[in-house]
Amino acid sequence: MVIFGAGGDLTKRLIVPALYNLTKSGLLPQPFALIGVDHNPSDTNGWRDGLHEFLEDVVKEGGGEFEAGSIDEQAWNRLAGTMSYMSGDFSDPATFSRLKSHLDERDKNEQLNGCALFYLAVPDRFFGPLVESVAAAGLTDDGRGWRRVVIEKPFGHDLQSAKALNANVLRHLREDQVFRIDHFLGKETVQNIMALRFANGLFEPIWNRDHIDHVQITVAETIGIEERGKFYEATGALRDMVPNHLFQLLAMTAIEPPASFDAESVRDKRAELFRAVHQVRSADAVRGQYGAGTIDGKKVRPYRNEDNVAPGSFVETYAALKLCVDNWRWAGVPFYLRTGKRLTKRWTEIAIRFKDAPLMLFGCQSASVLKDNWMILQIQPDEGIRLNFNAKKPGPEMDLDCVAMDFRYKDWFRQAPAVGYETLLYDCMQGDATLFQRADQVESSWWIVDALIKAWTAPPQEGFPNYTAGAPGPEAADALLAKDGRAWRPIP
Ligand code: BG6
Repeated sequence: MVIFGAGGDLTKRLIVPALYNLTKSGLLPQPFALIGVDHNPSDTNGWRDGLHEFLEDVVKEGGGEFEAGSIDEQAWNRLAGTMSYMSGDFSDPATFSRLKSHLDERDKNEQLNGCALFYLAVPDRFFGPLVESVAAAGLTDDGRGWRRVVIEKPFGHDLQSAKALNANVLRHLREDQVFRIDHFLGKETVQNIMALRFANGLFEPIWNRDHIDHVQITVAETIGIEERGKFYEATGALRDMVPNHLFQLLAMTAIEPPASFDAESVRDKRAELFRAVHQVRSADAVRGQYGAGTIDGKKVRPYRNEDNVAPGSFVETYAALKLCVDNWRWAGVPFYLRTGKRLTKRWTEIAIRFKDAPLMLFGCQSASVLKDNWMILQIQPDEGIRLNFNAKKPGPEMDLDCVAMDFRYKDWFRQAPAVGYETLLYDCMQGDATLFQRADQVESSWWIVDALIKAWTAPPQEGFPNYTAGAPGPEAADALLAKDGRAWRPIP
């Protein structure tokens, strides 16, 4: 495995820790070689030591990613023993011929069977040029063993740029060599939606317009833009989260059952779904930007005061939209999506609202006393699935109340500590592309939001900021649902 961007944050925070977790669980293929490439003038020891130091700190803290304690030095040494570092400028063709010699040498000495995975953990402006250079050096020729390229997010910043990037990449690689990552698909709870829907006979018969009123997908974050002002000013919440992460949640919820669980069958169904989604009109969307406020008891500054953000910026940090899916399963069932920074709580859920009972049979009570039937797929935190329904309160009167059936992952499974990249890395080494984006999916996703992206290049009429940090979002987002006679579920 060759990582371009070996000195970067992604490598340090996610890729190498995920490889370490895979090593610990014995899932790293054997033999294995890890080659880091970056422009920093470091060497193998310097690279290894830096990664070890970082890992040591995060393991000490523990959390969901690692067992609290100290590094399993045996596992670390097994991984560290596979590492070598090569310093090189990505714009210099000599870097790639040196890499080829290095790879050939390691391949020969360690009998790697000619297989190689190139991970582009670099800013997106390097994606196209790197693929070109890697291919020009003959590194993607898969005569002897497979050769694959992993491309990170963002894959383009609108429809046109995504198409151009796909065209460029596919000039040098076959589609089956390209693994476009969306880390939301690495989340266990997201993958579990497939199990919920297609491993049970119970839910699928009611998973349609006859029984479902609407669906709400929420990805709320409390973090602001952290140190990413420059990136965020050119991106905004819509591009950063919607056509990628939120659409993956939409796809898992709404795709048709695939004929089998092989990559192409599942990806065909995802592509089919995206083709059925209408392009979003600006009348069906709301944007917001956070002002000053309080998060977890701490005062936070407004977006416009963040580093590297223009004082009068009208980049959105919140987006809400209504999507319509034109197929027999979903016609007339709106999907409401929202995401934002600096919201009340870190909370990701898919909430499916079932239709009301057709009649109120219980005495003189009106149907309005009945609580809504919801199925909540809780993606993070406190992962689980909850079903809300009405039940009779004990006592002589026919009084009803809303109760819940509740499944929490932590009550049933011991989740292996994970940073979220383990499955994705494992899958691309196995050549399983089920959880990766195909060119057509990426393009249809951008197409759905393309008109909105264009509309949002103009400043918002109502002015920004329009929500307080720590609030659930702008008021206009409530109006978006209110005009359909609905309301967002509260972010707890
Ligand atoms: C990234 C976005 O892709 O996903 C970030 O660029 C966002 O802005 C992050 O915070 C959310 O991912 P997670 O796994 O923390 O929910």
